[in-house]
Amino acid sequence: MSIRSISKMGNLQLAEPSIPITQFGTKELYKLIEDMRETMKVEDGIGIAAPQIGSNQRVIMFGYEEGETNPSGQSIPFTVLINPIIEVLDDTLVDGWEACISVPELCGLVSRYKKIKFSGFDPEGNPISAIAEDYYARVLQHETDHLDGILYPQRVKDLRYFGFQDEIIERIRKRNEVITD
Ligand code: NI
Repeated sequence: MSIRSISKMGNLQLAEPSIPITQFGTKELYKLIEDMRETMKVEDGIGIAAPQIGSNQRVIMFGYEEGETNPSGQSIPFTVLINPIIEVLDDTLVDGWEACISVPELCGLVSRYKKIKFSGFDPEGNPISAIAEDYYARVLQHETDHLDGILYPQRVKDLRYFGFQDEIIERIRKRNEVITD
């Protein structure tokens, strides 16, 4: 396994739709997953999608491994999810700040569905599914967007709510502007 470099916004591979995995349990798939895991750890992300390390395949991973610091306040178990499908259970839109390792130093306010059910497959091809709400649901929507070639800045509706993290943090602190879920 190896730490791979992260493609950044502007790289057209990130804007392309990814293809489904058709063969499970292969050496190539395990290698991709291990590389994603190592890279996500180094980048300190909550999630990663295969296109971010240059592989346009429908593989995402997210969550916290045992012993890892979890600032989210929600239980988000570490999961590798292949060919994910999202079903909206509560279509209430919730605004929240998002960041992405492919868009370093920036953050933006994005509306996401409050509650979803995700399903897909584990690396061996066994079906998996779970229900996710709030921040957990946001992470799933953000990561699956990567597989459709969508980066979160494309979903920011008001560019006044898109900017450098240090500026936004300062602004929220000063003006008591709390818009997050
Ligand atoms: Ni991202």
